[in-house]
Amino acid sequence: MKVLLCGDFTADERSDWLQALSAAMPEAQWLDLEAARQAPASVMAAVVANPPPGSLLGLPALRLIQSLWAGVDRLMADATLPAGVPVARMVDPAMNAAMAQTALWAVLSLHRGFFAYARRQREGQWLQHVQRRADEVRVLVLGQGQMGRTAAQCIEQQGYAVSTWRRNGTPLQPLLSKADIVLNLLPLTEQTRGLLDRDFFAALPPKASVVNLARGAHVVDADLLAALDSGHLRHAVLDVFHVEPLPADHRYWQHPRVTVLPHAAASTDARSAAAVAVANLRAARDGGELMHRVERERGY
Ligand code: GLV
Repeated sequence: MKVLLCGDFTADERSDWLQALSAAMPEAQWLDLEAARQAPASVMAAVVANPPPGSLLGLPALRLIQSLWAGVDRLMADATLPAGVPVARMVDPAMNAAMAQTALWAVLSLHRGFFAYARRQREGQWLQHVQRRADEVRVLVLGQGQMGRTAAQCIEQQGYAVSTWRRNGTPLQPLLSKADIVLNLLPLTEQTRGLLDRDFFAALPPKASVVNLARGAHVVDADLLAALDSGHLRHAVLDVFHVEPLPADHRYWQHPRVTVLPHAAASTDARSAAAVAVANLRAARDGGELMHRVERERGY
C-alpha cells in the first residue's frame, strides 16, 4: 500500500513520523509529495499534518485522508480537498491525557493563586491569600469531544464543581454566569470562531478566569484584553493564538495577568498516534470501518 505522508513538518518531525509509522506498518510504502506526483494512481491514502492547499489533488485512488492533527480546521479550510474521500481526525489517547494534565494544571494554578504567587515572587512580596476548597470553584468546560470529556473528568476527580457545554446543547449564557473558570476545548468552526468575545466575557462573573487550549481564533483578542484590563477577568491562560508563533510585540507576552504557552498544551505522540493512523489505513485498505471520521458539513 502506497501512502503519501505530507505536511508542514520540520525535517526532524517528518523523520520521527516516518519512523513511527513504518514501525507500525512495515508493509506500507511512504511517499513524499514529489514521489506521489510521479505515480499518482498508486497512492491509496494520505497521512497529513496541515499540508499545503492543493497537495491532495489528482490522486484518483485515494481512499482515506488521515490527519495527524486533532483539530482539522486548517485541513478543512482547503477548498481543493477531494470531495468524496473520507477524512479522519487524530484521536490520540496520549495527547488526550496530556491535554487533561495541562487543563488540570491551569485550573489548579488559577484556583490556588499560583500565577499570582509567581508574580509576587518577582516583586519580592510575601503575601498569602485565602485558600478556597476545590468544590467551591466552578469550572465550565466548553466542548464535549474526546479532549473536553477527558479534561472534565480529570478536573472533576480533583473535587471541582464541573459543568460542560457543547454548541448544540443547552444555552451558554446561564452557564457562563456561574463559572469561575472557563476552559475552552471546542473545535474551531465557522460557528465557534470568535465565540469568546465581549458578550461572552461580560456574561462571566467578576474575577472569573479563562483558559484557551483549543484555537486562537475562538477568542477576540481585543475583547479579552479589555476584560483583563478593566479587572473584570482575573487571568487568562492561553496556549493558542491567531498568529503562531505569537508575534514578539503582542500584548499577551507582557501582560501581568496572562500566561502564555507556545501551543504546547498537548502534542501528538508519534508512537501512539501512529498506531491510531495505521489502524485506519488498514481499515481503508481492507474495506473495514474507519474511525474518527470528520463530518464535512460540520467541519470536525
Ligand atoms: C493541535 O493543536 C492539534 O490539533 O493536533
